[in-house]
Amino acid sequence: MDVLQAISNRRSHRAYKAEQLPEEALNAILTAALQSPSARNRQPWHFSVVQDAALLQEISDEAAKVMGKGGSPRFADPDFQIFYHAPTAIFLFGEKENSWTPIDCGIAVENIALAAEGLGMGSVILGLPKPAFMGEKADALRAKLQCPEGYDFVIAIALGYSSDTKDPHELRAEKISRIG
Ligand SMILES: Cc1cc2nc3c(=O)[nH]c(=O)nc-3n(C[C@H](O)[C@H](O)[C@H](O)COP(=O)(O)O)c2cc1C
Repeated sequence: MDVLQAISNRRSHRAYKAEQLPEEALNAILTAALQSPSARNRQPWHFSVVQDAALLQEISDEAAKVMGKGGSPRFADPDFQIFYHAPTAIFLFGEKENSWTPIDCGIAVENIALAAEGLGMGSVILGLPKPAFMGEKADALRAKLQCPEGYDFVIAIALGYSSDTKDPHELRAEKISRIG
């Protein structure tokens, strides 16, 4: 798929089929992640691929618990799960002592989203898991997900064959200034 087509077609998908990603698609997506540019080529990321539904549920429950009632109103729905029951989630852990980490991980997560789109799969970038890495289970979850020493959660992305349709978000022309 043409890169502009993949950018244009990508949406945040919030419903998934149970079918798992083919292994070769996952490998291609992870290669695209590793191919991301990073400041001074430090590659300050670690990608943890989770395909264990029980572990994803545990992280979702913990995020909901840490956020409490003041968190997302979506937590009021008992069926709401922050991974939307996608069969795969990739967690991006980033080097803490590096001011470029959020940007580098942001670029990498978009590479993952576009690679998935190009391969016919859907995704949604997820900040909502973050509270799970801030509460009393934080160390245990970082250990389970093999987060390296000196790294912490930055962002996650759920992946799979989507079962919803979504309109593109509005394009705001006023967000662009042309000078000269
Ligand atoms: C840094 C970041 C964090 C996000 N976190 C979540 C999230 O936790 N849950 C969710 O459903 N969507 C999340 N999104 C998806 C946004 O809501 C979505 O990108 C936006 O509404 C535009 O829709 P689109 O991606 O379909 O164009 C996140 C997106 C970004 C870039």
